[in-house]
Amino acid sequence: MRSPFVPATSVYQRSGINDAALRRGYEACRCATRATGEIEYAVSLLLPPPLRTATWALYGAVRAVDDLADAVGPAGELDPGRAGRLEAWISAFEADLRDGRGSDPVRQALIHTMLTWNLPPGFLHTLFEELRQDVNGRQFATWQEWRRYNNLINTPLVLRAGSLLLRAAGLPAEPEALAAGVPDAAVAWQTAVEAIYLTDALVDLSADLDRGHVALPQEALEEAGVPRADLLARRSTPAFEDLVRDLAGRARAWLDRTPLPPVLHPAVGVALGAYTDLYRLRLKATADVPAALLHHRPALPRSARLRLLLPARAKAALAWALFPFPIRPCPPQLVPARTPDGLGGTEEKRSPVAQRHPTVAPPPHPSGVRPPQLPGEVMPRHVAIVMDGNGRWATAHGLPRTDGHRQGARAFVDVVHGALEIGLKYLTVYAFSTENWKRPADELQTLMYEIPRAVRGLVDERLDLRVRWAGARSRLPVDAIEQLLESERTTRDRTGLTLTMCVNYGGRAEITAAAAKLAREAVAGKVDPGSISEHAFAGYLHVPELPDVDLLLRTGGDQRTSNFLPWQSTYAELLFLDTPWPDVDRRTLWHAIEQCAHRTRRYGSVPRIPAQHAPKSGQEAATT
Ligand code: IPE
Ligand code: IPE
Ligand code: MG
Repeated sequence: MRSPFVPATSVYQRSGINDAALRRGYEACRCATRATGEIEYAVSLLLPPPLRTATWALYGAVRAVDDLADAVGPAGELDPGRAGRLEAWISAFEADLRDGRGSDPVRQALIHTMLTWNLPPGFLHTLFEELRQDVNGRQFATWQEWRRYNNLINTPLVLRAGSLLLRAAGLPAEPEALAAGVPDAAVAWQTAVEAIYLTDALVDLSADLDRGHVALPQEALEEAGVPRADLLARRSTPAFEDLVRDLAGRARAWLDRTPLPPVLHPAVGVALGAYTDLYRLRLKATADVPAALLHHRPALPRSARLRLLLPARAKAALAWALFPFPIRPCPPQLVPARTPDGLGGTEEKRSPVAQRHPTVAPPPHPSGVRPPQLPGEVMPRHVAIVMDGNGRWATAHGLPRTDGHRQGARAFVDVVHGALEIGLKYLTVYAFSTENWKRPADELQTLMYEIPRAVRGLVDERLDLRVRWAGARSRLPVDAIEQLLESERTTRDRTGLTLTMCVNYGGRAEITAAAAKLAREAVAGKVDPGSISEHAFAGYLHVPELPDVDLLLRTGGDQRTSNFLPWQSTYAELLFLDTPWPDVDRRTLWHAIEQCAHRTRRYGSVPRIPAQHAPKSGQEAATT
């Protein structure tokens, strides 16, 4: 069934979903929702396009993951590879979410929705954790266990969906707002979700039995005198029929207590009302034919369903027309999937302009040494370096500090050559901080001359290097600004290594400037403050496309970050080397990358898949 309001393509257009791959992902989610969530799909059609697509992505993607956990083989046996596949999906999701990517269409749609609506990933993590347990077959001994599961998995998801509806009603976006103003509302919402879950456990009974599952508490079966074996043998007894009627009655009573938030957009009220009414209908269909539940899923009676939905559609359409959808979400720009070698996807393919201006390979290191070969999946994508220790190096060699900076510029050029050789995609270097203006004039002069000159030299080498500059203009000499901007312009079509020069850069200043710009846009009504996600915020930083830092390296012996990339480095691996920067060359970078590749990165989770390149004896060097 197509949308009664507008065809799917137009729904995507009106939701700002124009990318073809992303649309495919949303389409897959829409089909999964329609196939497995008849009620959810019908209700989604009462919502305006941006909320409708969000509902499909949330529901459809969760079904896709759920199916992985429950996968059965051709003969109905549980698929032994399901745990591995579930794990792989979850790991890929975590990585995609971190990078703002989508390495498969369904994940891409889910991530797009989460970033557009600023949905924190917490509710999905709990869901994943429970699905992991589902892989081994879930049984509930007591109602308490059943409730706990429901509380962890279903309630957060439904509340998330509910909070999206609240935003449409112009209310605060957090799920907690659902509970505001209604006594005991949190408990009541929990109960409503339990009603839905219990109803679904009844209608899915035969499908669950196919896999040897019974999603009802053992305690309930025992109280009713229904042996589990009877269910597994699909034997209907009067006790079983009584149990179904009793459970359907319980679910209906819970549903009847569903609180509605105090202030609602009328169309949201219509959608929520239709949702609970359709569930009542499902419960009636279930209680009417208890014995049949053992063999198939009861369908919603068509005429009753239409009697309910047709007026709801008319009312919702009228309400949306009278009170248009008020909010402006922040759709993110997702980058295409990473290719299996860990390098960039399509956006990093060579552009026609770049093809007309061929680039050259970097000169090898004088010793002839070649870079180590690292598997794509452990290769860091973004290395950031605090190039420190120039002054102390010079002093130790009896030279003026300015000589340290000149020697440091040579080290920098060699490291960039090495980054290209090893196939790094992003290298960011801290060349001059907003705090470095405190230095003596001769040092400032040298730095303002040496830094742009080194960059210019790299650009002139015609390497496959794209230069970006992060930092403020104020106080920088005009010719330094011009050189940096010119380097950016000349190399903008190159796609090999993105070299970000942090010159006159301060991390807090960068975040503050981004916040100020965003605030201006919010005041002008261009963005909805409720949908500003971390991803959307990052779009206001100096170099919006800069991915998270994987490895943050500092030379020169000090162990601090000195206001360098605070936003981008929250989960960076830190490596502090005693070597002063002028003594560094590309081999130092390669060695650091190898060390980073051996580290196990958990991002707050616990490791699921054994790290293939785990450190052997904890001898990882802190210095070279
Ligand atoms: C890094 O070396 C270069 C800049 C900060 C511009 P330093 O000049 O800070 O060297 P040390 O830390 O004084 O040795
Ligand atoms: C950090 O080094 C800045 C750059 C390398 C450009 P600093 O030498 O300025 O850092 P602090 O002052 O020791 O923290
Ligand atoms: Mg220093």
